[in-house]
Amino acid sequence: SNENNNARGALIVLEGLDRSGKTSQCRRLHSRLVEQGIPIELWRFPDRKTCVGQMISSYLANKSQLDDQTVHLLLVLTVGRKGFPYFMSLMESKLKSGTTLIVDRYSYSGVAFSSAKGLDIEWCKAPERGLLAPDLVVYLDISPEKAAERGGYGGERYEQLEFQREVSQQYQILRDGTWKIIDVCLPVEDIEKQLRELVLDCITTCQRGKGDIGSA
Ligand code: TMP
Repeated sequence: SNENNNARGALIVLEGLDRSGKTSQCRRLHSRLVEQGIPIELWRFPDRKTCVGQMISSYLANKSQLDDQTVHLLLVLTVGRKGFPYFMSLMESKLKSGTTLIVDRYSYSGVAFSSAKGLDIEWCKAPERGLLAPDLVVYLDISPEKAAERGGYGGERYEQLEFQREVSQQYQILRDGTWKIIDVCLPVEDIEKQLRELVLDCITTCQRGKGDIGSA
């Protein structure tokens, strides 16, 4: 049978602490793979351009106050997550048509950051159930201390060493054996190369039609 009938894109998620370099790595990866002619899109959550995204952005910039539960649920709404079936079906149709999605933060951020504030982890996970399951989760591993030394740190509400230590612990609880960990202390070219290899591998597996698009 024709392999391409089954070809689908891969759902690839990058996670990590603030200032772990996710956004730059996502951009480099995206442009390299575009150059290689791979159908690929870069998504990020929260998308601050949406209406709800602007509320979150103002909260993160310490310009407004919201209680922890409210912030959590607002973030669930922004993240192509369950509250927005539109985003989920958009993601799904992209994947089915063969486009790979690189996603800068997903539901794991939602759970890690909110449970780091002391909210019950099961409560945090509940509204995230039923999301599309990623084919690959890459965790950019940096210590909270190292992250705090990076430029631009402290600009936003969550960029506080103590808090990021908590977030880091929550990520360790969340991550399972399938997550790929990249040490962010490596030279940036090495990080880029490791990431690209993991991603290309995953894309190839999905192209062969191995496995359906899962749900989390
Ligand atoms: P960003 O720096 O990647 O734009 O993310 C903004 C902040 O929001 C970052 O500190 C992580 C946090 N966050 C959550 O608390 N919950 C979520 O669901 C997401 C996607 C991000």
